[in-house]
Amino acid sequence: MAEPDWGITPLEAADCDELGRVHIHVWREAYAGLMPADYLAGLSQERSAENWRRGVELPDGAEIEALTLVARHRGRIVGFASAGPSRDDDAPTEWELYALNLVSEVHGTGLADHLLSRVLGDRDASLWVAEGNARARAFYARRGFTDEGGRSAHDPTSAPEMRMVRRRTPA
Ligand SMILES: CC(C)(COP(=O)(O)OP(=O)(O)OC[C@H]1O[C@@H](n2cnc3c(N)ncnc32)[C@H](O)[C@@H]1OP(=O)(O)O)[C@@H](O)C(=O)NCCC(=O)NCCS
Repeated sequence: MAEPDWGITPLEAADCDELGRVHIHVWREAYAGLMPADYLAGLSQERSAENWRRGVELPDGAEIEALTLVARHRGRIVGFASAGPSRDDDAPTEWELYALNLVSEVHGTGLADHLLSRVLGDRDASLWVAEGNARARAFYARRGFTDEGGRSAHDPTSAPEMRMVRRRTPA
């Protein structure tokens, strides 16, 4: 099958409202059954859009450290990826994959691989994934991420999370 023509571009302010809608839509799809229904129902597209906007509209002189990419198909945002310096006190790698989210219509198409390689390049990286998110765990395992034992819980819901780590260079 011919590869779809994904348009992958850095996030801009004009994308943030749509990204907020897509972000919450993906969360509700991906975490139904893993997180409480009332928590997912209460997620706000507007708040998500505002968070993304804060990341692109920085005060003068501030530097953007994170990279967020959006993928469009036929003009519509169908996925996004975000990465930057690790937020963990015991960071196993300098770089962290903060998010890789695709709408279900484009699962299994190869878009996730494009986004992952564009946002991480060859860097060592770590990420947090819900332990019950079997599809994501399988995806990351096939791309060289392993479980090194890091465990946490998703703050608002206490859903168990695990850290997966990819090392391109020996530790
Ligand atoms: C996680 C995500 C980026 C992966 O992208 P994708 O295009 O769906 O991934 P792929 O189809 O290439 O790979 C998924 C793998 O999981 C496997 N899989 C699917 N459902 C599974 C399940 N319930 N249990 C175990 N493995 C499963 C697939 O067979 C495939 O394995 P393969 O590579 O050996 O064929 C995408 O599914 C997504 O955005 N999901 C919603 C948001 C999310 O969970 N993001 C990750 C947060 S950390």
